[in-house]
Amino acid sequence: MSDYLIGLGNNDSKTRKKADEDFVTFWADQAKNLHWFERWHDILQWDPPFGRWFVGGKINASYNALDVIVQKNPAKTALLWEGKDGESRVITYHDLWIEVNKFSNVLKSLGVQKGDRITIYLPMVPELLVSMLACARIGAIHSVIFSGFSAKSIKDRVEDSGSKIVITADGGFRRGNVIKLKETVDEAISGLDFVQNVVVLERAKIPIIMSSKDKKWSDLMKYASPDCEPEKLESTHPLYILYTSGTTGKPKGVLHGTGGYLTHLYSTFKWIFDIRDSDVYFCTADIGWVTGHSYVVYGPLLHGATQVMYEGAPDFPTHARMWEIIQKYKVTIFYTTPTALRMFMKFGDGIPNSYDLSSLRLLGTVGEPINPEVWKWYYDVIGKKKCPIVDTWWQTETGGAMITAVPGLETIHLRPGSATRPIPGVDIAVVDEAGNEVAPETKGYLVVRKPWPGMLLTLWNDDEKYKLAYWSKYKTSYYSGDYSIKDKDGYLWMLGRADDVLKVAGHRLGTAELESGFVSHKSVAESAVCGIPHDVKGEAIIAFVVLRDGYSGSETLKNEIILHIRNVIGPIASPEQLYFVTRLPKTRSGKIMRRLLKAIAKGDEIGDISTLENEAAVSEVQIAFEEVKQSIKKNYTK
Ligand code: WTA
Repeated sequence: MSDYLIGLGNNDSKTRKKADEDFVTFWADQAKNLHWFERWHDILQWDPPFGRWFVGGKINASYNALDVIVQKNPAKTALLWEGKDGESRVITYHDLWIEVNKFSNVLKSLGVQKGDRITIYLPMVPELLVSMLACARIGAIHSVIFSGFSAKSIKDRVEDSGSKIVITADGGFRRGNVIKLKETVDEAISGLDFVQNVVVLERAKIPIIMSSKDKKWSDLMKYASPDCEPEKLESTHPLYILYTSGTTGKPKGVLHGTGGYLTHLYSTFKWIFDIRDSDVYFCTADIGWVTGHSYVVYGPLLHGATQVMYEGAPDFPTHARMWEIIQKYKVTIFYTTPTALRMFMKFGDGIPNSYDLSSLRLLGTVGEPINPEVWKWYYDVIGKKKCPIVDTWWQTETGGAMITAVPGLETIHLRPGSATRPIPGVDIAVVDEAGNEVAPETKGYLVVRKPWPGMLLTLWNDDEKYKLAYWSKYKTSYYSGDYSIKDKDGYLWMLGRADDVLKVAGHRLGTAELESGFVSHKSVAESAVCGIPHDVKGEAIIAFVVLRDGYSGSETLKNEIILHIRNVIGPIASPEQLYFVTRLPKTRSGKIMRRLLKAIAKGDEIGDISTLENEAAVSEVQIAFEEVKQSIKKNYTK
């Protein structure tokens, strides 16, 4: 393993020791790195399963992300924004600060108050950050929706959060096409009378229909004052809601606070990326996902980092787009997903090899397990065997990274495919059904045994669901929903989800949410969805559909249903394959035998699957297997 012994010369053994001795005081010491208007009186109020950090402390996220930096170094570049067709913008911390102040005043002029929810549906443009930070400045709670989501998905989220303002753009660009975002928002909010205004950024400069609710970004900003005092907010004040998929049909509104969340991000950004003043950081995540919230918006800005923000797709207009950007901006830290890496690897080494990537000093991955071959390719071809790779495991709910190498803190032998060890100050274990720690090299469930500062406050408007989803399997530990193995040296190997959640190209999708999407098509009586391994996306969606009486399977109907699911959820929900079947295999208790479906989709034989469903008798599984296979042949052939 010595090939992968990598550190950055930082050998701080004290930090981890302190964290092990007393994690509460340890996190309070980390929180002191932030600016507080008033110091907290309680570091942690732990009323299981609700954790509240730095209670009594007064803080503001936008003040920490902007004012603190502007006071020291206003001319520092915050964003090197790269748009489509080589369009670009350089934005300093001072520029960003002015825009945020102005937009905070715009929001106030629209009647936005502390605690109000604001939905943001924007492409990857600097105004997305401006909108989020302006909400944070005045204590409004932002709810950002990925700009690839459909009108129906937006409607559900706007309704659940009760947002009174929606911020969007006329259109965004994707692979050379204009996506009409404003039109989608109009459809989403029709009938939602509590939405008072829609703010429209003129990004694509396409004609749009404006109603009396609609206000143009440029009109509102024209006379806005560049001076807005940040609200002195409680540390526990909600910073944002981010909807994510779970095991039930409805997305969950993960609610994050301010002081604890920012402490987690400040610390992890420093430990993981060893951020330095001269660095050019590039995280390819869309801000619509948690990685973008934590490691494009809050983490880097808290450190006054310079980062590349990219609007387009990673492989458009050419397969060299990422390497071109790294060369152009002399990127030093590159943080991306295994899905993107698998795709780049398929394009061949010749492409990255013809670019100057020598500025890189640190590489990262997030969102899914990384195959060791891909890890090695990343290490050899992109990092030229000189850059450590940080494989960071975490979740929307954890707020920030939980398991990862921390080269900014210590030297560690990296192992391709392992996220290595928990960060200092978090207590992670691999346990069995009963909650007992399993022996090394044994598969179990990953749990967090102590509260951590980035932990979600709750699920928006639903404390009961919060308790049920994360704290009912084990009463005193947070249940992550992931399988893991700890090797004998304490390295953790993440093995994917243990629940009915899929990870498609790193995006989280619940099978129940997908199934209710399919069933909402007029021809579909019942549906079941499973994931099968995919060589680029990690996992691909396979749908099994039982049609209503009067419908029969055909290529046309298949395409219609696929189009429907894209409209209901978004293009990321497109199934790789859709099978029409006459019935779904279920256990006696009515649970769909998802692993059996998976086996059918993968073309496995019955011998491999007869023991898969522990809730069903072997004979029952065998019968179901044959029936489903037969009905696929009968009804529809590819
Ligand atoms: C998976 C993304 C393996 C995991 C930040 C988790 C990972 C889910 C890794 C959360 C990793 C994330 N190795 N698996 N390094 N990082 N995951 O909420 O299954 O979109 O539960 O947050 O992604 O997905 P989410």
